[in-house]
Amino acid sequence: MRRVAILISGTGSNMVRLVEALKAEDSPGDAVVVVSNEPAAGGLARARALGVPALAVDHRPFGRDRAAFEAALDAALAPFAPDVICLAGFMRILTAGFVSRWGGRLLNVHPSLLPALKGLDTHARALADGHAEHGCTVHLVTPALDDGPILGQARVPVEPGDTPASLAARVQAAEHRLYPAVLLRVLRGEQAPLLMP
Ligand code: GRF
Repeated sequence: MRRVAILISGTGSNMVRLVEALKAEDSPGDAVVVVSNEPAAGGLARARALGVPALAVDHRPFGRDRAAFEAALDAALAPFAPDVICLAGFMRILTAGFVSRWGGRLLNVHPSLLPALKGLDTHARALADGHAEHGCTVHLVTPALDDGPILGQARVPVEPGDTPASLAARVQAAEHRLYPAVLLRVLRGEQAPLLMP
């Protein structure tokens, strides 16, 4: 069984979907730990309710020393010996050092059809730019932000009257379908990107 760690910062709705997929009978992996950089993250209790160990590594005591925060993160992860790390709404930028340590085994979900709309506020920017279509991407993490080989994408339409919130809800529902499906494929060694309508 492949061992999967999930990093969160907030409510953890994607994390819940990943854990549920990993609990399925024919799953090739196990969720071994959930770690949040935000001690108040609601996702920590949700993970424990699903029977997954959950802990916080607060980034604040480390100030601007990202490498020191990541050393603490590595130390927290080490006892769980993950094979793969899924970033699921994890809102810290990771250094090239951390990314290269986990090279090829670090996945992220981003709320846009990359390479369009890297960075934050993607739903408002999709509306402001008049996009007819929006969506989400699961990709391997490389040192450049929201870059890296695309493992899967799911598209959603932009509807008349959409607000950033209504569009975000549609994209999140797509993330919840896409991310678990991509993770299971990665764990099974399937290489081709998963493209969902
Ligand atoms: C997701 O929409 C993700 O794309 C974004 O943050 C959100 C996390 O939501 N970067 P959740 O914590 O998985 O509910």
